[in-house]
Amino acid sequence: MTFFQSEPEITPFYDPNISYEENCKSGPFGGFADGITYENKGEPQYDFLGHKVYLPFGIPAGPIPNANFCKGGFQKGFDIIMYKTVRTRPHPCNPFPNIVPVQTKEQLTLEEARKGLIMGNKFTNPIAITNSFGVPSLSPEEWIPDMKKAVELAGKGQILIATYLGTPGNGEEAFIQDWIDGAKMILETNAPIVELDLSCPNEGKSSLLCHDTERVVKIVKAIQPVFAPKKIPVLIKLSYFPSDKKLQDFIEKVSPYVAGFNAINTIAGNVRKEDGSQALPGEGRLLSGVCGAPIKWAGLDMVKRMAKIRETSQYKFIIIGTGGVTTPEDYKEYIKAGADAVMSATGAMWNTNLAKEIKETIL
Ligand SMILES: Cc1cc2nc3c(=O)[nH]c(=O)nc-3n(C[C@H](O)[C@H](O)[C@H](O)COP(=O)(O)O)c2cc1C
Repeated sequence: MTFFQSEPEITPFYDPNISYEENCKSGPFGGFADGITYENKGEPQYDFLGHKVYLPFGIPAGPIPNANFCKGGFQKGFDIIMYKTVRTRPHPCNPFPNIVPVQTKEQLTLEEARKGLIMGNKFTNPIAITNSFGVPSLSPEEWIPDMKKAVELAGKGQILIATYLGTPGNGEEAFIQDWIDGAKMILETNAPIVELDLSCPNEGKSSLLCHDTERVVKIVKAIQPVFAPKKIPVLIKLSYFPSDKKLQDFIEKVSPYVAGFNAINTIAGNVRKEDGSQALPGEGRLLSGVCGAPIKWAGLDMVKRMAKIRETSQYKFIIIGTGGVTTPEDYKEYIKAGADAVMSATGAMWNTNLAKEIKETIL
């Protein structure tokens, strides 16, 4: 049995030492299950896409797989919560383990990630992990009512964001149709905002969907007639773009159809054990998504570059900064870089008081 201790000893709210199914059934854990609630005071002051929130800070799609986890997050003062990415059909999770520690320098460059990383033997601070889930999904009959419940769990000054992706299948037309079908399912949940996950590995192609601008334009155009009449803002989740020219071109072509961009997802890296063998079991799993403290530079860099593009753009899209946020200082750095909102997945998992700590420093 794989077991990685956290040092200092902490049980993250999503427990990496048990399977995804067990987490969904019995979670959340640690601070999300301690019964201590953070009370927001006064009136929410920040505008987030037309919704008032106490702090434009929360948890991105990932470690929050169902309404029980959403409840824990809202109670701890994470005011924007994204429900883990769902699909239009059931999809299994990659085999356990899905989260392991990695050994890295303070900041992980793209080149180092490509060359490869070594798995760690415990979760240490600053937290650095890799994750590999394969975007599992329950059937819509199961996730639609659960997401609906999660939407209702948001308190005053809080908001739940739905995230989903289309599943490739029988050709391009069917793929686009799957995005449209998913959009209609999201409508049933009453989620007030939606994010399209374009930055998970694009099955059938070796690249990421967000790096294929023309395809993304097709998708956002196709789903617009579903979300626009309901005035549901659409966000796009991005990976790191090394090229300024590609990023500029992507934003110019996509922003007419969306409300904003969230960057970044994880940085893909080859992760091995000390003896050189593959760290995560199964085909195609040498490559997984590195996240936590060592990817902060990449999220910040994307936010700065997007903010610069926005200065001269005719479209006033919002920017959400994600990646490596583990302290109140990180939050401030992202806001200074031009982010309108900030998210933490790995940092929040190991510090369920992160929202409280940020609020205590800046509100
Ligand atoms: C356990 C876990 C599961 C994740 N699952 C998803 C997902 O389903 N969809 C998605 O867009 N991003 C997913 N991510 C990526 C996060 O949303 C985020 O972009 C990334 O982890 C970088 O942020 P961090 O350094 O704060 O973890 C996941 C991350 C983690 C840690």
